[in-house]
Amino acid sequence: MTGKPQDRYVHAGKLEEVMRLEAQAKAFGKVLEKEFEIVDLKPGMKVLDAGCGTGAVARKMATKVSPGEVYGIDIDPLFICEARKLAANEGVSNVRFELGDVDSLKYGDGTFDISYCRLVLMHVKNPVKTVTELKRVTKKGGVVAVSDNDDGGVITYPEMPKMMDLWTKYGRSAKIRGEDRYIGRQLFSIFSHAGLSPITIYPLPIHATQQTPEMLKMLVLVPVQIMEQCKENMMREGLVAVEHYEEAMKEVQAFLSHPGAFAMGLTFLAVGKVT
Ligand SMILES: C[S@@+](CC[C@H](N)C(=O)[O-])C[C@H]1O[C@@H](n2cnc3c(N)ncnc32)[C@H](O)[C@@H]1O
Repeated sequence: MTGKPQDRYVHAGKLEEVMRLEAQAKAFGKVLEKEFEIVDLKPGMKVLDAGCGTGAVARKMATKVSPGEVYGIDIDPLFICEARKLAANEGVSNVRFELGDVDSLKYGDGTFDISYCRLVLMHVKNPVKTVTELKRVTKKGGVVAVSDNDDGGVITYPEMPKMMDLWTKYGRSAKIRGEDRYIGRQLFSIFSHAGLSPITIYPLPIHATQQTPEMLKMLVLVPVQIMEQCKENMMREGLVAVEHYEEAMKEVQAFLSHPGAFAMGLTFLAVGKVT
């Protein structure tokens, strides 16, 4: 492994990923509000958002903790640069973004009230090491909170067998690169090994129907956009043929115009106390 951001995150350095991360945080707005409520974000707190991407979540947290501060760190210089611009454009001044590695944080022990990390653990080499580092920089009495998906919780009506087959293949290809799309169910084990106690796991389903077509589209297009960025690799690896890919995309279009369409995904929030 080299020190390149692309070795840590396959979508690093891509402008389309900047837009996808922003759209994704928007689509998950209700789940994020629920997470903020659970971790009890309060004015005056000092919060870390480790692996902040474009800072979409850090900006939301900053408005909740003002006059406190949010520190967003990420391994990708492009995301950090965009995060600074987006925060400046929105006039959010109590958030700072810095380049950094979640496994080796530059902050001292006990710096933050809350150390939060969303959709990152699935990309790291050693999740216990990452959570142990988050614990180190959190104050005694504070919390480490990690939010991650688990593809085992994906349900759709009508079913999309070709799309799901493709997504499972993407999951396998991702696993070889070190991305674990089934990390949600492992959070309790990871937090226990990192020495956090007590630990609470909150399964947070997110769903949409044709009553909220924009949301339905976002939910279903998140995996499509992820695969679109890796399509050529998957074809090169022989995981998928062009025709198979095109058929799966037709299935997605048919799903989106089905009057009774329903889609659900599952996020897990793990909250561990630092004692
Ligand atoms: C799916 S994105 C999630 C971004 C953000 N947390 C959000 O919810 O929008 C994963 C992020 O983790 C970052 N990342 C992956 N490995 C990292 C590491 N070792 N240190 C810091 N950031 C990392 C990537 O650059 C990317 O921005």
